[in-house]
Amino acid sequence: MKNYVLTSVLVGSVLVLSACKPVDWAEQKWNSAFNQSKDEKVEEKNDHKQHHAEQNDQNEEKPTQTDEEKEQTQQKDLPWLNDTVTVSGDGKAVVQNLNDMLIVANKERNLPADYEPVDLVIPNVPFPFKEDLPKKKLRKEAAASIELLFKGAEEQGLQLLAQSGYRSYDTQVSIFAYNAQQYGEEKANQTSAQPGQSEHQTGLSLDVTSPEVNYDLVEKFGETKEGKWLAENAYQYGFIIRYPKGKEDVTGYKYEPWHLRYVGKEHAKEIHDRGVTLEEYLKKP
Ligand code: DAL
Ligand code: ZN
Repeated sequence: MKNYVLTSVLVGSVLVLSACKPVDWAEQKWNSAFNQSKDEKVEEKNDHKQHHAEQNDQNEEKPTQTDEEKEQTQQKDLPWLNDTVTVSGDGKAVVQNLNDMLIVANKERNLPADYEPVDLVIPNVPFPFKEDLPKKKLRKEAAASIELLFKGAEEQGLQLLAQSGYRSYDTQVSIFAYNAQQYGEEKANQTSAQPGQSEHQTGLSLDVTSPEVNYDLVEKFGETKEGKWLAENAYQYGFIIRYPKGKEDVTGYKYEPWHLRYVGKEHAKEIHDRGVTLEEYLKKP
């Protein structure tokens, strides 16, 4: 009887240990994938598609991720602010990830003066003017999404109009000079970007307005039904309110309820739900 019990315990332990083995192995593989060197991570960032394909291949082998791990995985892929600029000879930080939907141009990050997106198109949305000016344009993906957003707004009985999208570096030179001359440089800096620092140059931003504010770009737009709807729903179409109220110290600009920025649906939802700015979202933890 004693021998029988001993044998059963031994056989049982062997069975349990061998059942655990594949899980441990897969876990190790997953952990080592997680602990890759920094260089490898940079390489991955340069090729998102391949990275995701590889992750899918591993899906069968890896254990279920916790929410925390999922968040880490998502964060691992973001184009962090510090990693996406280089300092030029004159000490200016120049943006490198020009083709990225998460590109950031701000007071500390300059776009090359000759940068113009290659896929600018005019979206099929209403403008309060007829001429086919460059400011009607947006990058292709943002243009397709803004058409859906305008349709969504219309279905709610709202009246949005697109006022200003893409702007070249040279156009921003004129706009900033005009504002500085009208209001003084200090005031101009609170509402208008210096040339090379406007995200309108990325073709991913659009200023929108409505008849209720006489097609102007004014703070009051945020209190209109159109402005409120945008603040609550723009993320569903991949857009964020780029310069929110209360975040002036982070963005460097006054509240602009009219300035939409395309980042793609997944990131827009995350930014909206967390109540952060693009800068906060892309700051390495
Ligand atoms: N009004 C925004 C900050 C711009 O000029 O790009
Ligand atoms: Zn704007």
